Amino acid sequence: MTQSVLVVGSGGREHALAWALARDPQVRVHIAPGNPGTAAVGTNHPVDALDGEAVAALAVALGADLVVVGPEAPLVAGVADDVRAKGIPVFGPSAAAARLEGSKAFAKEIMEAAGVPTADARLCLDMGEVVAALDEFGPPYVVKDDGLAAGKGVIVTTDRDAAIRHAAGCRAVIVEEFLDGPEVSLFALSDGTHVLPFEPAQDFKRVGDGDAGPNTGGMGAYTPLPWAPPGLTDEVVRTVIQPTVDELRRRGTPFVGLVYAGLALTSRGLRVVEFNCRFGDPETQPLLTRLETPLFEVLHAAATGGLGGHAPLAWGSGAAVGVVVAAHGYPDSPRRGDPITGADQDGVFHAGTALDADGRLVSAGGRVLTVVGTGDTLAAARDAAYATVARIGLPGGFSRSDIALKAANAEVNA
Ligand code: AMP
Ligand code: GLY
Repeated sequence: MTQSVLVVGSGGREHALAWALARDPQVRVHIAPGNPGTAAVGTNHPVDALDGEAVAALAVALGADLVVVGPEAPLVAGVADDVRAKGIPVFGPSAAAARLEGSKAFAKEIMEAAGVPTADARLCLDMGEVVAALDEFGPPYVVKDDGLAAGKGVIVTTDRDAAIRHAAGCRAVIVEEFLDGPEVSLFALSDGTHVLPFEPAQDFKRVGDGDAGPNTGGMGAYTPLPWAPPGLTDEVVRTVIQPTVDELRRRGTPFVGLVYAGLALTSRGLRVVEFNCRFGDPETQPLLTRLETPLFEVLHAAATGGLGGHAPLAWGSGAAVGVVVAAHGYPDSPRRGDPITGADQDGVFHAGTALDADGRLVSAGGRVLTVVGTGDTLAAARDAAYATVARIGLPGGFSRSDIALKAANAEVNA
């Protein structure tokens, strides 16, 4: 029987979700609003992802068997609740559970209640408290805007004045201890009670090679992590994901969707850097490229309380590397309207793209494309990704050249 799924959002993550769902011949994919990339794997509908009533009405009109809400902004705004109110299975947390990402202070409160290891932190409501907290922890300073900021609300710096300036631009501020050690992104599906982990991935947050420059939404990612300690996934599920899901259920706000734990493997053990309430971007693109379990079945199981006793997810044996092609000026002031060529190659996922009045593909956001290469090894997957990037044209566009390089060279130590 054909199943119909509506994916909500318009980024690279939504293109990857739509692509992976559409690999299944039984699944018809609709996207609201989507982008020119999603139009090649499903049907785009011009509905605002933030308009919960309109999304719910579209899901009803399509007879959707499942709705997958991709980005954090609609989740935090309650779009999943609006669809659930129509009796349609939804993969994506309620507004109440999405606060795990929407408020860093709430996430810290949940972690404290659930005994989940994270950075020691102070919530500061005025500059006096900020300065006191900075001097308590010392450099490097970590200052975070409490609300959603698309990955750009955080500054990590040894410059005390820069830390203070960043805090002055935020309404409520978290100041926290610096975490050393490599970062890991661990995703797990949750049906509110049971969880099913993905393989770990690593994301590159800084804009420049060698982790130079400001934080971005993410400039690239790869999976698997050959350097990860054995048993890492089990440890994260046991000490981080399951206790967090249990705590949210205990509070009457079960988390149905994807728990994304951003972790630091520090010299003192693993610590949560942040939670997200949705698939991460760009980790999703390489992860779903390697996923062999049919995606519709497992997302539907999560949306309907059916993950208990589910088989582990199945993965292809090789590696996948995703490299973001960003627009001139990203992340500060990305330029729009530049013509894009070469985006029709295999493994290219669209994010900030649009068609201009003449039907030509142009840039329309900071992260324009994510290019995924695969291979038996990380080195081979890197070569494949960068070969595809080399065939893409975007005036002023740029990529990091070192995505997965240290891992491919066995230079990451956990
Ligand atoms: P967040 O939005 O909390 O994920 O922070 C964005 C990025 O800033 C993270 O992926 C880390 O690279 C960095 N970061 C955040 N918190 C810390 C911390 N306590 N210590 C070191 N780096 C951090
Ligand atoms: N890759 C980081 C994020 O999705 O927030």
